[in-house]
Amino acid sequence: MKIHIITAFPNLLRGPLDESIIKRSQEKKLVEIYIHNLRDYSEDKHKRVDDYPYGGAPGMVLKPEPIFKSIEFVLGQFNIKHPNLIFLTPQGKRYNQAKAIELSKKDHLIFLCGHYKGVDERVREYWQMDEISIGDYVLTGGELPALVVIDSVIRLIPGVISDIESAKTDSFYQKRLDCPYYTRPENFRGMKVPQVLLSGHHAEIKKWQEQKALERTKKLRQDLLRKDEKEKMIDDD
Ligand SMILES: C[S@@+](CC[C@H](N)C(=O)[O-])C[C@H]1O[C@@H](n2cnc3c(N)ncnc32)[C@H](O)[C@@H]1O
Repeated sequence: MKIHIITAFPNLLRGPLDESIIKRSQEKKLVEIYIHNLRDYSEDKHKRVDDYPYGGAPGMVLKPEPIFKSIEFVLGQFNIKHPNLIFLTPQGKRYNQAKAIELSKKDHLIFLCGHYKGVDERVREYWQMDEISIGDYVLTGGELPALVVIDSVIRLIPGVISDIESAKTDSFYQKRLDCPYYTRPENFRGMKVPQVLLSGHHAEIKKWQEQKALERTKKLRQDLLRKDEKEKMIDDD
């Protein structure tokens, strides 16, 4: 997968993209990540990419020209006919694991990070962008949201994490929260690891993990349960 990130603040991205699983995915040549600095596409002699909003409002707005030019560069340079353009915005559709799974199947993704008050509205009107929000709160820029989406997508690409089954037991993959985990020591300050996990009995362990995942989901996230599971809960009460 080729991932393009269009941003006015490339330094916000570099550290996280060069660590842990995201770094390894690039080393294994499963993912290529390109950061495009909006300032490189500015027509302004001071390389400005923002300007005051018409009509007057507090804050600046990212100008349309550098954004159009950067997107056009990516499409031309990488011969992309049907772009998967993603605009990070608090006004977008709320991001979730189902969307991460959908995005992980694409051959490329192009992220546009807003900043200040956002982007000139003509960018949104002209480009057919998937608008994604990572939650109902406002961040300074789209860089952190882009990293959130990129991290969650990359870990789902086959070969990135050594055991993809591990990702499939994570919360939300199957409309469940994940089960609890324990590691050594067996007894920590009098708190013991559940006996079944030490039994070596794989079928029993799997049953326990599924049971705990269900209990936890019922307790913390009933909205994830299937309709019949919710109805059963009401009956049991
Ligand atoms: C300060 S915000 C602008 C918010 C905009 N004026 C509004 O209220 O909708 C600057 C940029 O940060 C990004 N951003 C902020 N919060 C976000 C969120 N919850 N999800 C995705 N992107 C977000 C967007 O790219 C946005 O253009």
